[in-house]
Amino acid sequence: MRENDSASEIGREALHLDVPALRADTPGCRQVIHFNNAGCGLLAAPVLDAMVGHLNLEARMGGYEASAARAAEVREFYTETAALINTAPDNIAFAGSATHAYANALSSIPFEPGDTILTTRDDFVSNQIAFLSLRKRFGVRIVHAPDAPEGGADVEAMAALMRTHRPRLVSATHVPTNSGLVSPVADIGRHCRELDLLYLVDACQSVGQLVIDVEEIGCDLLTATCRKFLRGPRGSGFLYVSDRVLRTGYEPLFIDMHGARWTEPGGYEPVATAARFEEWEFPYATVLGSAAATRYARRVGIEAIEQRTPALAARLRARLEAVPGVRLLDRGPRLAALVTFGVAGWQPVPFKAALDALGINSALSYREFAQFDFGDKGVEWCLRLSPHYYNTEEEVDHVAEAVADLTGRGRP
Ligand SMILES: Cc1ncc(COP(=O)(O)O)c(C=O)c1O
Repeated sequence: MRENDSASEIGREALHLDVPALRADTPGCRQVIHFNNAGCGLLAAPVLDAMVGHLNLEARMGGYEASAARAAEVREFYTETAALINTAPDNIAFAGSATHAYANALSSIPFEPGDTILTTRDDFVSNQIAFLSLRKRFGVRIVHAPDAPEGGADVEAMAALMRTHRPRLVSATHVPTNSGLVSPVADIGRHCRELDLLYLVDACQSVGQLVIDVEEIGCDLLTATCRKFLRGPRGSGFLYVSDRVLRTGYEPLFIDMHGARWTEPGGYEPVATAARFEEWEFPYATVLGSAAATRYARRVGIEAIEQRTPALAARLRARLEAVPGVRLLDRGPRLAALVTFGVAGWQPVPFKAALDALGINSALSYREFAQFDFGDKGVEWCLRLSPHYYNTEEEVDHVAEAVADLTGRGRP
């Protein structure tokens, strides 16, 4: 890659993780050391351009007219997202958040009293709350698979629970919000396929940092956000819906005039595609920004990202391990780019504020985000640092030194 080229203008080969060029394409890299990609990744310039360009177009020609003029580019949201996770565009629905996609997916399942939801101890907090809400309203049973000794769900024990309970739904989170664990979602999926069980995967923290292949995972439904490791805008996500689920006739409880046709006064027909899980109103600038972010990630190369991003996190863990007073909390046979740790002598908010003051972005997780995991680890909170491929080894070392310095000082 030539030095002054924008990474966005270069083909896939040349983009092969030329970190200086990728940083030049990321305005935020000049302002902060952003280790909060598990919260929200920094936007790349082409994403920003796509969004601002569309807002300007809306202002100039009118919102409806602008979306009609950009219909082909809007379509690219579906083609790009489908290519990212190895499916077809008709199996993708846009969603305003991963949680919205997840709730919509759950709402399509005709739960009856006594049905079982089989999940893991590492499923995302809002998913667990949704299951509890379903239990309150419909009397479903919630069964949690036990963890394996090395961390993450014990797949064989989970498969045994599948056979005994014949759950209405099996759910797993690929990478949780509160640790670097990579859950064995494809191994769980293999059992779901063998037993013909409905399988929902939360890929919110893995999409954009790990290769996601819905065929390999064997899931029926998969949810994700675009704002984290995909580096898309806030307020965007998607739902993957398998052909099997579409054919069976699953539809969200509150389907609207975009997801269905009102064919007669007393009846409606859901559309054939995953669009039945969408709503009529769309934030078009955000949809176009999400398409641009996914295109960007694919050009950078997800395989290359999958190598670099968790490796930066591993380097950070190795540095932090040597710091007295730091307790690393990530457990599991395979770890992603979420580095979580406790710090002796500090309270969570002042510790994060001290990093903020050094220009280092981080995040906090609390016990109420991860009742099982933090209960097992015996911690009330942790600091989470989540680098991405555009971060540098020097930044990793600098952040580790900053943590060591603060920890050594203790809270002033
Ligand atoms: C694993 C996981 N699932 C789901 C979500 C929810 O995503 P959203 O905020 O887009 O609804 C998050 C957010 O942090 C997450 O980490």
